[in-house]
Amino acid sequence: MKHQDIIDKMTVEEKAAFLSGKGEWDTRDIPRLGIPSIFCSDGPHGIRKQAGAGDHLGLNESLPATCFPTAAAIANSWDVDLGREIGEALGEEASALNVQVLLGPGLNIKRSPLCGRNFEYFSEDPYLSGKMAASYIQGIQNQGVCACPKHFAVNSQELRRMAMNAVLDERTLREIYLTGFEIAVKEGGAKAMMSGYNQVNGIYANENQHLLRDILRKEWGFDGIVITDWGGSNDHVDGVKAGSNLEMPAPGLDSARQITAAVRDGSLAMEELDTVVDDLLDAVLTVSDEQKGKSGSFDKEKHHMLARKAAAASAVLLKNTDHILPLKSGCRVAVIGDFAVEPRYQGAGSSVVKPTRIETIAASIAEYDLQVIGISRGYKRTGEADEVLKKEALNVIEGAEAVLYFFGLDELSESEGLDRSHMRIPQNQIDLLQSMLQVNENIIGILSAGASVEMPWQTNCKAILHGYLSGQAGAGAMLDILTGKVNPSGRLAESYPLRYEDTPALRHFPSTERNAEYRESIYVGYRYYDTSKVRVQFPFGFGLSYTEFIYSDIKADRQGVTLTVTNSGTMDGAEVVQMYVGLPNAIVFRPEKELKGFAKVFLMAGESRKVHIPFDDKTFRYWNIKTNRWEVEMGTYRIMAGASVTDIRLETELEVEGTTSVYPYHPAMLPYYYTGIVQQISDREFETLLGYPIPDGRWSGKLTLNDAICQMYHADSFLARFIYRRLTAMKKKSEEKGKPDLNILFIYNMPFRALAKMTAGAVSMDMVEGIVEVVNGQFFGGMKKVIKGFFANLKANRAYEKRLARGKGEER
Ligand code: BGC
Repeated sequence: MKHQDIIDKMTVEEKAAFLSGKGEWDTRDIPRLGIPSIFCSDGPHGIRKQAGAGDHLGLNESLPATCFPTAAAIANSWDVDLGREIGEALGEEASALNVQVLLGPGLNIKRSPLCGRNFEYFSEDPYLSGKMAASYIQGIQNQGVCACPKHFAVNSQELRRMAMNAVLDERTLREIYLTGFEIAVKEGGAKAMMSGYNQVNGIYANENQHLLRDILRKEWGFDGIVITDWGGSNDHVDGVKAGSNLEMPAPGLDSARQITAAVRDGSLAMEELDTVVDDLLDAVLTVSDEQKGKSGSFDKEKHHMLARKAAAASAVLLKNTDHILPLKSGCRVAVIGDFAVEPRYQGAGSSVVKPTRIETIAASIAEYDLQVIGISRGYKRTGEADEVLKKEALNVIEGAEAVLYFFGLDELSESEGLDRSHMRIPQNQIDLLQSMLQVNENIIGILSAGASVEMPWQTNCKAILHGYLSGQAGAGAMLDILTGKVNPSGRLAESYPLRYEDTPALRHFPSTERNAEYRESIYVGYRYYDTSKVRVQFPFGFGLSYTEFIYSDIKADRQGVTLTVTNSGTMDGAEVVQMYVGLPNAIVFRPEKELKGFAKVFLMAGESRKVHIPFDDKTFRYWNIKTNRWEVEMGTYRIMAGASVTDIRLETELEVEGTTSVYPYHPAMLPYYYTGIVQQISDREFETLLGYPIPDGRWSGKLTLNDAICQMYHADSFLARFIYRRLTAMKKKSEEKGKPDLNILFIYNMPFRALAKMTAGAVSMDMVEGIVEVVNGQFFGGMKKVIKGFFANLKANRAYEKRLARGKGEER
């Protein structure tokens, strides 16, 4: 133990209480022992420090902070130095606002384009996600602030996010859903980790010994603290046993009482409790120490300019017919689109930042050498048709040399707590685009959307620039690219399928019942499209530049691959060289190729440079489910250098020795996994992959503590069904208004147990059991439990508080 001296002085009650939050954001202090409280804040792309009443959904105001582009945008930069710089700025702002733990970055895998929170995550590829996350973490922690990557793990769906069980095979878990976290821990040195709300193969992530103990701590050597997602704890005694430290936000003392009871009855050993207390003490004391004497301010202008640089480095030029871009100086442009006046620059939910300032296209365009002939909102962002706005836009664009059309996904489409139901952009925006084309052919589409969208309309645009959700300085960044001040260098960190129906998890996302079956296995994103030869709109890694790059002289040896890249055009610019690795005729099924390295290289016009991309422990490995370890299959590997997954410019071969003597699969039993055609995997084939029968995810009739409130349509109680209908109606109404109601979404997806975990001690688990009985039709018995539980809880809370105040243990 690092802090045995303090632990010796702590009562069991203090230890147990220390393991849960004091309020929405802070940990419990113990003044008599000199243990301070530390403060946690979201989030991944800016600090959301609430000065007043705290909530975890971004409902109440927070202090101004720089709103950087969201992770989905920054991942397109493929620039780890930029990630580190943003991390440093985030760390500096956190420190200035007296925040010790920053709840980010988020690095869940984009299993489906429909996950409502994709804007907060980096990529569909674990290697790229991990590298970007590690760079943020290094930057944040350089400033003495603790980074808390999230949500560990397999948390790729928002619907019933707190009550979902991810069912997947060990290899998919390791290769796809954990590799990014592994890089974040081993290379980023993360000092904290947020456990996900969901279950992984039947066990809550926060209680999952396999995830938290065997993998995170033992295999990866993580020695930081595990923090539950807000309200995500199920049973903290089990959490402690698995090595989880801090239950957030404020479950009250009911949780602490369960821990002390477990110590008393011997089901939790004192050493187990002391170990997690020691980790937490160490984190609290270290981070408080490092924060001492730090300045209370940050340079707003400097960070704003960094946000602009970051947005410009991350925007992806998807199309540029006839070199319409960059715009010539003095070009007569019409500016169309609601987003040009009111930008859509971040997503909804716990990550919402109150920006220090916001640039808009309408205001910033005056600073550029362009002749603006008119600005019109053109469409209603809430989706309704509006003929007046449309007419106005059509008038404005007449006579323009170029139409700058700002459009994309509206606020309701992407939010924490909500998965999208399709991949389309609101039809009224597309109608306007089609009408504009009749008047003016030179349309340049500038997209704002935090996730992949279908683009059947793309032929209507001469150029498309995708800014994602580009943060508070996104407008200037887009104008810098449109006018050629910046040469675009973003490359897509996710695939753009032609249609949603082409996506691999189509039939199993989002799961509406208890289990989310990950039948597509390792074939996520490009691993699927590329292997099963499904044509896409834009492939993973794709992006255009205003210059051209030539690749030559590839060589591979045991250390890595070396090649030369030349900027053969007339403009300086950066290229993202991507290294993919594949093994033809592999005995162990695998994707056609996988990203195993990359380098972003800036080259002046005419310049050539040798680029070396090193191999690492992940280059050739696969997870062998028979031997339960990482192995290498022997063979002649294809080592490819490309400008996207489908644009391989150079290729060479390398003989690699293997480690495998026991092969994990019988190809005849897994025919579709061997072809990569995984949209319709049968129960039998999935069970063969899992190695056990698919768990039954149907309801057994009665609702339990861990079922979500939105499942009350199964309830026996008329009252519960009535509440469900009311909630659904309220949810629908808020959707019709165009703004998601995060409170309703949260309650909707929340399991009953969270009533005890999110109410700061007002509700105990016994009371929740009573509530569930009521829901299941036992009104009187249930209510009796609730009322009895209420008074018992009140009494027990008071007694516990008293003991904490006196610093004494329970008198027996
Ligand atoms: C989110 C986390 C966030 C936390 C605190 C949760 O609902 O899932 O990502 O950090 O709230 O706001």
